[in-house]
Amino acid sequence: MNHCGTKTLTTDRLILRRYVKEDAEAIYKNRASDKEVTKFLMWKPHPNEEFTRQFTDDCIKQYSNKNYYHWGIILKENGNEPVGDIAVVNMNEKISMAHIGYCIGKAWWHQGITSEALKAVIDFLFDEADFNRIESRHDPRNPNSGKVMKKCGMKYEGTLRSSDWNNQGICDACYYGLLKSDR
Ligand SMILES: CC(C)(COP(=O)(O)OP(=O)(O)OC[C@H]1O[C@@H](n2cnc3c(N)ncnc32)[C@H](O)[C@@H]1OP(=O)(O)O)[C@@H](O)C(=O)NCCC(=O)NCCS
Repeated sequence: MNHCGTKTLTTDRLILRRYVKEDAEAIYKNRASDKEVTKFLMWKPHPNEEFTRQFTDDCIKQYSNKNYYHWGIILKENGNEPVGDIAVVNMNEKISMAHIGYCIGKAWWHQGITSEALKAVIDFLFDEADFNRIESRHDPRNPNSGKVMKKCGMKYEGTLRSSDWNNQGICDACYYGLLKSDR
């Protein structure tokens, strides 16, 4: 492992960068307040902008940790406001494993943005942070999330029954994984 913290990543259409205080309004408006976005997530829609401001401040504080990886997704053509979010939400350092979570505002669904962001994060976590395994999971009722993983080369590893929960209650979890040696 070679923890290097949340570095800015750039792709053709996107900038993945650290949050700054001024992002709170856009985070709230673009994704965090939308119950369709959070339908299969483990957190409730943010009730107000003040809540999002607190969330943003908490993220910013954690950027001083070298093992904290959390990006706002900026679509270049849309200015500098985050339209989505991608992060290492769980980590097992003994096996150099990162578990990734992501979401994007509804207005930007099905434009390949999350796949483009996940590819960049995968490359960064393998090549710079030296992880060996990257995994993610989704509720089978949310298949488009699995399609993002598949599009990024992750391999389907199985479904664990009633092993997880989200805003819909207890659910199955479809796991995808990628090893450094798979690439
Ligand atoms: C799931 C989610 C992250 C997908 O993000 P996205 O940016 O729309 O995904 P992409 O555009 O990269 O799509 C990848 C593939 O999924 C499929 N797909 C995505 N959205 C789709 C839609 N609305 N209708 C049909 N297919 C869709 C397509 O096969 C697509 O591949 P293609 O671009 O070659 O057609 C997004 O819908 C989201 O944020 N949902 C709410 C939060 C969430 O569920 N997060 C994941 C929790 S596990």
